[in-house]
Amino acid sequence: MRLTVVSLFPELIDALFHGGIVGRARARELIRVACINPRDFVCDVHRTVDDRPYGGGPGMVMKVEPLLAAIARGQRESPPGTPVILMSPQGRRFDQDLAHRFADLPGIILVAGRYEGIDERVLSVIDQELSIGDYVLSGGELAAMVVMDAVIRLLPGAVGDAQSCSQDSFSDGLLDCPHYTRPELHGVGDVPAVLRSGNHAAIRRWRLKQSLGRTWLRRPSLLAGRKLTPEQEDLLQEFIDNIDLDDPACG
Ligand code: ADE
Repeated sequence: MRLTVVSLFPELIDALFHGGIVGRARARELIRVACINPRDFVCDVHRTVDDRPYGGGPGMVMKVEPLLAAIARGQRESPPGTPVILMSPQGRRFDQDLAHRFADLPGIILVAGRYEGIDERVLSVIDQELSIGDYVLSGGELAAMVVMDAVIRLLPGAVGDAQSCSQDSFSDGLLDCPHYTRPELHGVGDVPAVLRSGNHAAIRRWRLKQSLGRTWLRRPSLLAGRKLTPEQEDLLQEFIDNIDLDDPACG
């Protein structure tokens, strides 16, 4: 998969390209990455990439020509079928479903805007606008990094233990269950006995019950309209019947 970011701040993107899961995926040749700087496509002495908005008002707007040139290079260097995505708080909300869909693509080009915005005419080459949440960042770089991280970790071979992705929150529409490691006993609480029992069927049921219960408590909208299996219904009911309202985790 080829991931391209169009950004005026390649040094920000570079940090992501070199470390963690992204660095490992590159080393394993699961992905190719590139950052294209619109500033490389301007010739004036000041290398101007922004200008005042028509109609007046505060701030600057990213100019159309350098952005179009940077995107065009990204497209030339990407496999056919690679969409151009603009990071913007006005876009469709990014979620795990979209991460899975992007992970099946041959590539993506993420355009990170800066300043007050970009010249609206750039939208003529944008396939989709994407938001990572209802808040405004000072640029699209962090948003692009969020999307890349979420997509890359889904690529086969990117994460050490393939199962750990399928157990993630949201991967089956539920929040993740609690996790524990040693020590078994501690002043702030003990590891639940079932996880130490070696009874794999009981562990699977406990984890599913916790996932359902957490989702019901914290993100009930994820359960709305979802048809639970009879086993899931029983486990959720068990969770609700045993809920401890004094437990901060239930708040
Ligand atoms: N750029 C600025 N804010 C953003 C957001 N919330 N999502 C995506 N891109 C952005």
